[in-house]
This record gives sequence, C-alpha cells and structure tokens, in this order.
Amino acid sequence: MSVLDKLKAIQESALEDIKVIKSMHELNDVKAKYLGKKGVFSDVMKLMKDLPNEERPSFGKMTNETKQVILKYIEEQRTLIERVKVEEQLSKETIDVTLPGKRMSSGNRHLLTQVVEELEDLFIGMGYEIMEGPEVETDEYNFEKLNLPKDHPARDMQDTFYITEDTLLRTHTSPVQIRTMLEVGGTEPIKILCPGKVYRRDDDDATHSHQFMQIEGLVVDETTSMADLKGTLLEVANKMFGEGRDIRLRPSYFPFTEPSVEVDISCHNCNGKGCNICKGTGWIEVLGAGIVNNNVLEASGYDSTKYRGFAFGIGVERMAMLKYGINDIRQFYTNDLRFNKQFKK
Ligand code: DAH
Repeated sequence: MSVLDKLKAIQESALEDIKVIKSMHELNDVKAKYLGKKGVFSDVMKLMKDLPNEERPSFGKMTNETKQVILKYIEEQRTLIERVKVEEQLSKETIDVTLPGKRMSSGNRHLLTQVVEELEDLFIGMGYEIMEGPEVETDEYNFEKLNLPKDHPARDMQDTFYITEDTLLRTHTSPVQIRTMLEVGGTEPIKILCPGKVYRRDDDDATHSHQFMQIEGLVVDETTSMADLKGTLLEVANKMFGEGRDIRLRPSYFPFTEPSVEVDISCHNCNGKGCNICKGTGWIEVLGAGIVNNNVLEASGYDSTKYRGFAFGIGVERMAMLKYGINDIRQFYTNDLRFNKQFKK
C-alpha cells in the first residue's frame, strides 16, 4: 500500500468513526485516537524515515492536509452534536399554550360582610369613621345610658342574654354610641358607623336568630336635624336598592331617640306598586332611627342645649334578605358553600 493510500484509508476510517458519534465525550476520544500524541498519525510519521529525501516534503504536506480534513470532520460533528442537544432541550422545554390551564378556585366574602363593606364605603365617603365595640357589654351602656333604666317596660323589646346582673351580650350596637360619646367627652362633633354582632334570646326561625348583625350610625353636631337624617338614609336606600328609591319616615318609639321613626324604602321589586315582598303596600320597613334623646346626650357628657344628634340602626340580615331575595335568615349561618358562592362578585 502506498503512503498516499494509507493516508486515504486513515481519512476514510476517521470519517466512518466520526459520523456515528453522538456525544462530546466520544468525540474527544476519537480526536485523541487520530490526532493525539500517541494517535494514528504518530505511526504514520514513523513511515517518513523510510522515504527518500525528496518525497518527504510532499508526504509532510499530505499528512497535514489529511489531519486538517479530519479536524474539520470533528468540528462539524461537534457542531451537529451541539445543535441536536439544543433542539432536544428546546423541545423538552416547550410549553403547549393550547393546553387547558389549571383553574384556581378562589373564595368569596360572606354576603353579610359584603353588605357591611358596601355600607361602610358609602359612609366613609360621607365622612364617617368606622367604630367597634365589645359584644360583652355592661347593662349600663346597653340599656341605662340609652335611657332604658332597669324597670323600663321597653326593655322587653329586647330579650337579653345576661352573663351577670350587670353584664350581658349586647342586644344592639347602640351602646357604641355611648362609648364614643364618653370617649370624645362632650366637646367635639361625632360621625360614626358601627357594624357588629348582637344577641337576643329569640327562638331561631326563618326570620329570627339569636345572633345577628346591626350597623349603628350616630351623628352629633350643633346643627344636626331630621332633614340630615332623611337625606342620609335616602343615600342608603339608593346605594342598597338601586337609584330611584324613595323613603318615608313613620312615627315610632325608641327610648334613645325623640322623636323616633321607622324608615320604609319604596319596594325595589315592584317599584312601589305592591307585590308579595312589600305585602302589597309598596313600602318595606328597613330600619329604626331618630333624633338622639336629650337624656342620652346628657348621660354621655354632651350639653343637650348645644348639641343635637341623629342615630339609626340597620339590620344587616334584613337588608341582605330583601336585596337578594333570601327567605330564611338561617342560611347566613349554616355556611353552606352552595349558598355562599352565589354571592361571588
Ligand atoms: N337599637 C335599635 C334596635 O336594635 C335600633 C335603632 C333604632 C338604633 C333607632 C338607633 C335608633 O340608633 O336611633 O332595635
């Protein structure tokens, strides 16, 4: 075999070796096999010494060319291996954007919380501050300072859970009025809204619950009037039952207000024509209100010749039941998710 044939054979076998290589590791081995210090070409070089002098330069040149060709094969294969690797990785990491996503389920606020927050927003917009008071209250704040002394017949209006003779579960949010007035100390105007739970010794049925929610409002100022109260409650009616509601005030009695009123809203269902929700009257009773009784102002440190106030108490469940057509108050407390989820916004 001529030297030339030998080089050709080496080149061919190198090509065969290289083109099946799949990893860098193997490629480096093959590179060492042919081009390394102890590689195939070191044997070839040994042939040089048997050649006549004049043939040596061209042999050297051919050897180098063969080496260059093999090196080129190796580099081409290296590029190929790298490209395959990148492509594999890309296809492994592709995201199929047409795959349906995993639905995240989110909860929602309880309807009563929603109603409270809606009213809070409205009143904050009118400059009110949100206040809270304790659910375990004293008889003094829950009744006495609200113009309901111990033997007052109107105490029967609110059947009470007593804890001791002087402490009880508050029967309404009105004691927060007292707490706030005492805190302010009779020197400054007041504009507050107090949402919270209240308790009464009622047997639970579709319209009664031993625990429910109220929102109390109190404004004390030097010029407060019944007209301010009516305007404020009209805002409430429109916010809760839609624009265009009307309200009417009927004389009523609460010990802590004088005069006292029962507030009706024109029926949102029939627009005042009469339906089964408003029992044919066109009006729905929604809350109690009035001008703060002078005795209450005085008992809480306000000079009743200088200050006047109005107050109101909203039943949150009643509002929600009317607005959303709920016919059993117990639905609010059983925490049946099927009920709660209907009010997801
Ligand atoms: N506290 C009353 C109740 O629970 C509701 C109420 C009526 C509150 C008139 C008021 C008010 O502030 O002025 O029945």
